[in-house]
Amino acid sequence: MARRASSFVCQNCGAVTGKWAGRCESCGEWNSIVEEQTGGVGAAPRQALARKGRVVPLVGLTGENKEAPRISTKVAELDRVTGGGFVRGSALLVGGDPGIGKSTLLIQAAAQIARLGHKTVYISGEEAVDQVRLRAERLGLTDADVGLAAETSVEDILATLKSGPPPALVIIDSIQTLWTELADSPPGTVTQVRASAQALVRYAKTSGATVVMVGHVTKDGQIAGPRVVEHMVDAVLYFEGDGAHQYRILRSVKNRFGATDEIGVFEMTDNGLKQVANPSALFLGERNSSSPGASVFAGLEGTRPLLIEIQALVAPSPLGTPRRAVIGWDSARLSMILAVLEARCGVKFTQHDVYLNVAGGLRINEPAADLAVAAALVSSLSGVALPPDCVYFGEVSLSGAVRPVSQAQSRLKEAQKLGFSSALAPQANLKDGLKDMPSITGLAELGDMVARIAAGRSSEAQD
Ligand code: TYD
Ligand code: MG
Repeated sequence: MARRASSFVCQNCGAVTGKWAGRCESCGEWNSIVEEQTGGVGAAPRQALARKGRVVPLVGLTGENKEAPRISTKVAELDRVTGGGFVRGSALLVGGDPGIGKSTLLIQAAAQIARLGHKTVYISGEEAVDQVRLRAERLGLTDADVGLAAETSVEDILATLKSGPPPALVIIDSIQTLWTELADSPPGTVTQVRASAQALVRYAKTSGATVVMVGHVTKDGQIAGPRVVEHMVDAVLYFEGDGAHQYRILRSVKNRFGATDEIGVFEMTDNGLKQVANPSALFLGERNSSSPGASVFAGLEGTRPLLIEIQALVAPSPLGTPRRAVIGWDSARLSMILAVLEARCGVKFTQHDVYLNVAGGLRINEPAADLAVAAALVSSLSGVALPPDCVYFGEVSLSGAVRPVSQAQSRLKEAQKLGFSSALAPQANLKDGLKDMPSITGLAELGDMVARIAAGRSSEAQD
């Protein structure tokens, strides 16, 4: 009888080792290594090896290049993130915190595709058929012809899918609940998730169906277990949001058929998710422009310009080591801006606590936000409110120079669309022939902006 092999698999990154260790050498995660029986999985490739190879035809690099055919959902925000619709034969992973609305989003997408006349299948491994039906009823989707099943066995799911003409879209909610007989480990382990995902990806490639898999995210923001799945699929989308806010952001972090970092904005309502066509207006909606410490950043998410309010509070600190707290931005970047303001512009924060918040719970990764952050900080420290009709963007270097950023034109266009009439931008960007804004001021040095804000105070003091 063959000895059952077992190996030790990191549940975080999927690395396999021969013995247990407290820390995974591959990804550095602690306590993530678990013993798994791998006899079942190992057996399959060995059988495959024994088989005589089939001759595959080799083709040239030139030739008819078929444009990836896509199924448009006709939901602009969803199409934008996928790069123009679901690509046939592709596999997608949608990650997100529990309760953020992944199931809601996907049942709505499935219904939408079905209404457009495509065959659609929704497999729920988490909820019973009645629960999904109840939700569909609440969302007003009962008229859509979606094939629904509550099932967790990969073999049964594949047999069902292969029994008729291949569907255009298959939703698997979620990949962590699936199990396949090819692997011996319990459901939810990396081995199971990987084997199940592999089978589904293979099905997508061979049948031409788009397979969308839901993946849960752990506390620290990684798709639990199926990080290995991220490498297998064609696109990885994250559904993010803030418990305190109604809107949700679908963000593409990997996309073989489109741009990454593209975002789609939705709002969670009593009747499900609604797309938000003008997110800048949503994020700026509750703005109080007369108080010091708030600036408007003309940002870019993927290819989409987005106006975001940045709020700073600088207050005298009772502590020896003042506090620095950031929400929605990189704290190391904040330290850098504070250091540049101190060293190059003579603005001192050493006796002050600094709090920085990106309004609306959004997270910004762009260095172009430097200038807007600096403006908010100086405004709060000096108690001078910034002009309410002005937007800011520009990267700040350690020397205090304001460096140019990409796509200044589309940032300005968005600002103008929302009624902003002036902008502080990097000097070097003015060469792009910017003309949208009636009043653009080019800045070469961060000090120039500090001087402008300080001038605002002196003119106020006079009247
Ligand atoms: P769900 O799609 O079940 O989240 P996930 O699949 O990511 O775990 O979303 C559940 C949440 O969404 C729940 O807290 C209630 C809320 N919700 C609404 O606010 N309106 C709705 O119409 C629906 C269906 C859900
Ligand atoms: Mg769900």
